[in-house]
Amino acid sequence: METAAAQIASPPPPPPPPTHVAIIMDGNGRWARARGLPRTAGHKRGAEAVRRTVETAREMGIGYLTLYAFSSENWKRPAGEVTDLMGLLRLYLRNEVSNLNRNGVRLKVIGDRSRLGPDIVALIEESEAKTAGNVALTLVLALSYGGRQEIVEVARRMARAAQNGTLDPDAISEADFAAGLFTAGIPDPDLVIRTSGEKRLSNFLLWQSAYAELVFLDVLWPDFGRAELEAAVNDFHNRERRYGASAG
Ligand code: IPE
Ligand code: IPE
Ligand code: MG
Repeated sequence: METAAAQIASPPPPPPPPTHVAIIMDGNGRWARARGLPRTAGHKRGAEAVRRTVETAREMGIGYLTLYAFSSENWKRPAGEVTDLMGLLRLYLRNEVSNLNRNGVRLKVIGDRSRLGPDIVALIEESEAKTAGNVALTLVLALSYGGRQEIVEVARRMARAAQNGTLDPDAISEADFAAGLFTAGIPDPDLVIRTSGEKRLSNFLLWQSAYAELVFLDVLWPDFGRAELEAAVNDFHNRERRYGASAG
């Protein structure tokens, strides 16, 4: 049994991890360029960083991990690069889902599926169904995702409902609006991390990140790992979240 003195001396328990961490995985191209390799090589190494990060997030007890894998605007990239990225996505969904399932990870994909290939959509649906009962960690993959497009789509649906008389415009609340987003039922991100030294959101979770803490890291995404995620979470723990109230 511990003595009273030992109890007093024991350090306070670590703060609970943030419930929802979202990451803008940037810098694959620069990682490859620095090594004289094609951009695809950077994306391949980026996929390994995804595996590591999912594993670490689960071990840290994070509830939701959202990864920005492909933006609405990334469709503007050269066809060859888009094909390579879609190929890596296929591989990830084919090879990784049984592993996710074994580790109690639930997969959810957000974004405009109409622009993805039908085989990828089928793989997504299969993976989501297979992992639907898992509760250790929810991995949200943002694919063909754009925050503005997401918001406009909710506005369109609400305008249609108002037009046909099933929705009273004056009754629309923030909660109603949030319930129409891809992220319905998922808590807002507490912490948004962007790698590669860029300091912008690039159309990521615009509504949902209203009060997220932002951490910008210089590390390129393929080099991201446990130490970087832990450092970002430590940084988060040192922030004071005020939500508009006065400082305490
Ligand atoms: C992130 O790395 C991956 C995607 C956006 C799909 P980038 O491909 O944007 O790499 P940089 O920013 O050119 O280094
Ligand atoms: C944001 O990175 C999108 C993803 C990480 C998927 P980008 O590399 O596309 O962003 P910009 O063009 O530098 O803003
Ligand atoms: Mg980039």
